Amino acid sequence: MEKLDLLDVNTDGDVYLAAPGVSDAGGSQLLTPKRPATEKAGAADAFPYYAGFSFDWACSKLQRIEDPSRVVLDPWNGSGTTTLAAQTIGLRSVGIDLNPVANKIAQLRSQVNRDAPILSSPGQSSLRVDKNDGLHSWFTEPTAARIRDWTRCIAQKSEGDAGLALVAIFRAVRKATKSFEGSNPTWVKQAKSVDELIDIGVAELDAAIVLEQEFLADRLSSLPMAVAPTALFTASANSLPLRDESIDVILTSPPYLTRIDYAVAYARELAILGVNITRDRTLRTRLMGTTLTRKEVDLTFDRFGPRSQTLLRAISEHKSKASGGYYLKQAVQYLSDLNQGVAELSRVARDGADLHLVVQDSYYKDVPVPLADICIEEAEVRGWHLVECKPYPVKRNLTKLNTSARAYKKGDVAETVISFKKGRHG
Ligand SMILES: C[S@@+](CC[C@H](N)C(=O)[O-])C[C@H]1O[C@@H](n2cnc3c(N)ncnc32)[C@H](O)[C@@H]1O
Repeated sequence: MEKLDLLDVNTDGDVYLAAPGVSDAGGSQLLTPKRPATEKAGAADAFPYYAGFSFDWACSKLQRIEDPSRVVLDPWNGSGTTTLAAQTIGLRSVGIDLNPVANKIAQLRSQVNRDAPILSSPGQSSLRVDKNDGLHSWFTEPTAARIRDWTRCIAQKSEGDAGLALVAIFRAVRKATKSFEGSNPTWVKQAKSVDELIDIGVAELDAAIVLEQEFLADRLSSLPMAVAPTALFTASANSLPLRDESIDVILTSPPYLTRIDYAVAYARELAILGVNITRDRTLRTRLMGTTLTRKEVDLTFDRFGPRSQTLLRAISEHKSKASGGYYLKQAVQYLSDLNQGVAELSRVARDGADLHLVVQDSYYKDVPVPLADICIEEAEVRGWHLVECKPYPVKRNLTKLNTSARAYKKGDVAETVISFKKGRHG
């Protein structure tokens, strides 16, 4: 097993080298970053994770790198599109995400074990689950207990052998709880009364999980072989577990200022992993773009660049309810996280390193949120030199799903690919 020698932490896991093979990734210059609604490339359909860009586009970006010794980082790695593209092309990579659900999906896609066995049953059934178990938000006691039988069984397996069954449970639970998704699929409701709880018989649930494992095994077998190692970590982009100047290429898409709360969006999968976001708000509070506000929010604007300050002023002066209170705090918190993340990228990147950011502009009510311009401004003061800025019009837009947000008139928004070089090498 090859070890990546750039980590700043003592770690014994998650780093591996998959068997060599042939990459079939496309290299078209005409690709847009937008992930198609039903993307299959890179086994993106293994689990519907909210993604910043498509696998083929990520491959096309990384394929231009000629030096095979370069190390790729995605500090907001999500379901691992960047790290899988790097593995496929033969570049070593590191993927960081604070959401443990994201890392489980990224890990499965990264083919830590392409031939993981399909588990047919977790064996013996338990009768009760802990009263604080997050599964109670959607399931009756016997169904929650059976899901726990599965998670307990796979907890005894190696990471490689567990991944397939774990993501299969994610898929089966998602399907069973579809009725809790509203028009905005990233805002998942919980049962308000016992009548709304889902009850699935043991045999039916086991069969569904087996079926999902078979589907996933099939999807994994379609992947091009990984030819380079990746290291995946559950950590924050605000404090990267990496050495100074250890990274050559950063390809990433941070959360946008569109009020997607990743903890709520993946509340069911977090519950499966044992995190009840209703009782324990730690993860939800820490995620960038969270809809919760932290206790200490420094509301001074002068630590931000002029474009961020203009946006914050427009939000604070907006006539709609809570604009100068909750919404201002949320935006300040988001911009602080963005700046902290960019500062970390400056620290871990080598001089001359490339940074490609995919970001989407949006609106707060009728106030434009020029996220691409904000990123350029904040990256430039942290040592990044702008090389290219390419906007792509966005058709599918989550802000349009929000009924209260629809009350305000908005123009079109763009998703922008912004490329920088560290230092003055432009
Ligand atoms: C736009 S998504 C990236 C999607 C990714 N490109 C993919 O293909 O799945 C942004 C990711 O940032 C993660 N995130 C939010 N706050 C974070 C933080 N402080 N540190 C690291 N990751 C964070 C979210 O969990 C989410 O997975």
